[in-house]
Amino acid sequence: MKTVTLIPGDGIGTEIVEAVQEVFKAANAPIEWEVQIAGKTAYEKYGELMPNSLLESIERNKVALKGPVETPVGGGFKSINVSLRQKYDLYQNVRPCKNTVGINTRFTDVDLVLFRENTEGLYSGLILYDERLQIVDSISRISMKGCLRIVKAAFEYAKKYKRKKVTVVHKANILKKSGGMMLEAAQIVSKDYPDVEWNDKIIDNMCMQLVTKPEQFDVIVTSNLFGDILSDLCAGLVGGLGVVPGANIGDEIAIFEAVHGTAPDIAGKGIANPTAILRSAIMMLEYLGESEVAKRIDTALDKTLAIKELCTGDLGGKANTKTFTQNVIANLA
Ligand SMILES: NC(=O)c1ccc[n+]([C@@H]2O[C@H](COP(=O)([O-])OP(=O)(O)OC[C@H]3O[C@@H](n4cnc5c(N)ncnc54)[C@H](O)[C@@H]3O)[C@@H](O)[C@H]2O)c1
Repeated sequence: MKTVTLIPGDGIGTEIVEAVQEVFKAANAPIEWEVQIAGKTAYEKYGELMPNSLLESIERNKVALKGPVETPVGGGFKSINVSLRQKYDLYQNVRPCKNTVGINTRFTDVDLVLFRENTEGLYSGLILYDERLQIVDSISRISMKGCLRIVKAAFEYAKKYKRKKVTVVHKANILKKSGGMMLEAAQIVSKDYPDVEWNDKIIDNMCMQLVTKPEQFDVIVTSNLFGDILSDLCAGLVGGLGVVPGANIGDEIAIFEAVHGTAPDIAGKGIANPTAILRSAIMMLEYLGESEVAKRIDTALDKTLAIKELCTGDLGGKANTKTFTQNVIANLA
């Protein structure tokens, strides 16, 4: 039995996290949950977005599953997601995007995994503001160490899961130094992976290629800002943010999360789709070495998604969160 920190979060967070707990229980997944609050819920209770008890729990368990959280607008609050990534050096943001039978999209053969560098670039928080001239310099800090470790993570993944190719995305033609570093890192790292094919693409061309011929891509690795944009673009290719999982992984700690928000417009109505958080929880099981039960839940989820009536309203179905969860559990058999 492994103990995992469970952060329901705000809005629909509690509803979708409950779905995970029920499915895991039905599948006998060897996970014990340690529930911790964060975001608006924690702020209302403790006056803090990330209470100490939450941080201690993550540090103790090393693995967390997180629902969406609300960072209050204004008041100088720093995003909880960005704070956790930086605090625990969760440098890999991993987003698998694969077509699902039953979810209608423009393409049918997308199956890619995006590795986004999660701690550097324009998100480093290095800002110079000249109030008199009203000019902001937002510094994009890129290090060779940062590029090498994210590229290595992508190649390692390709090798482990026998993926065909790694595509390195950059802007080295114009941003010679900052953009070129990711490409340079790939030239170094690829030497250790002679069996993994790789190529590189400039970000603007990459966007065009992804929306016209996405099936040519397999594992993609890129910097923080490009990855932020590409990961939502790729989610759009396979059904949107409501169905894709996400993971933030460091050398010590990993936080798995649904990438959609708190959906305030439907919170409390019991109609939220728990697919994204369930898929993030499946990724978490694989990370913990529980591949057999991960596969079983994944198959049950795919079987459910294949039949429209069994799905939630956002996917054109008739189920609510509870009945969808029961449909997944029935398919575990
Ligand atoms: N990872 C996170 O914690 C995270 C990510 C994005 C936004 N947020 C926060 O969430 C709040 C709302 O943001 P937003 O409205 O821009 O985006 P959102 O993702 O919450 O909602 C966008 C639309 O998608 C729908 N939707 C989202 N998830 C769904 C689900 N699981 N099932 C069915 N429908 C779903 C919503 O009903 C809404 O119509 C903000 O406070 C924002 O800061 C948090």
